[in-house]
Amino acid sequence: MALSDCVMIELPKISDPRGNLSFVESFNHIPFEIKRVYYLYDVPGGECRGGHAHKELQQLIIAMNGSFDVFLDDGLIKKSFTLNRSYKGLYVSKMVWRELKNFTSGAVCVVLASEPYSEEDYYRNYEEFIVNVKKLYLSDTFFQV
Ligand code: TYD
Repeated sequence: MALSDCVMIELPKISDPRGNLSFVESFNHIPFEIKRVYYLYDVPGGECRGGHAHKELQQLIIAMNGSFDVFLDDGLIKKSFTLNRSYKGLYVSKMVWRELKNFTSGAVCVVLASEPYSEEDYYRNYEEFIVNVKKLYLSDTFFQV
C-alpha cells in the first residue's frame, strides 16, 4: 500500500514493421487478476481526473495515446510520474491517493483494475483518506508486512 510499491512496469513490446504489439497478463506482468478495464478519453485541456484513493483496488494505468501526469500520495510521501508510452504502465497499489493531470490533446488513459466497480471502495475525501491511511500505518498488520 505504500508509494514504494507503485512503480512503472515495462510491458513486452513486439516490434514489427507492420506496427508494434504489447500485452499484459494477470500475475505475470502485474500482481493481480484483471477484473475490469476502463478508459479515459476526450479529456478537455486543463481537466483533472482521479482525486481519490481505493481501499482495496489495485490498478495498472497506461497512456495508450498521448501523455498525462499521475500524482501519487500515500499520506507520507508524494511522487509524480509522466506516462507517455503504450508499452509502459504505472502500477498503483491500494490506499494511494491519485490525481491525473496535464492530459495532452487526444490522450487515452487505459486502466486495468483488480476489482469490478464499487463506490464503497473509494475514499473521495482527502482528509478521510489521510485519517484512515495513518490508522493503517499505526496498526500491527502494517508493521508485520
Ligand atoms: P471516477 O472513478 O471518479 O473517475 P476518475 O477517477 O477517472 O476521475 O468515476 C467517474 C464516474 O464514473 C463515477 O460516477 C463512477 C463512474 N464509474 C463507473 O460507473 N464504472 C467504472 O468502472 C468507473 C471507473 C467509474
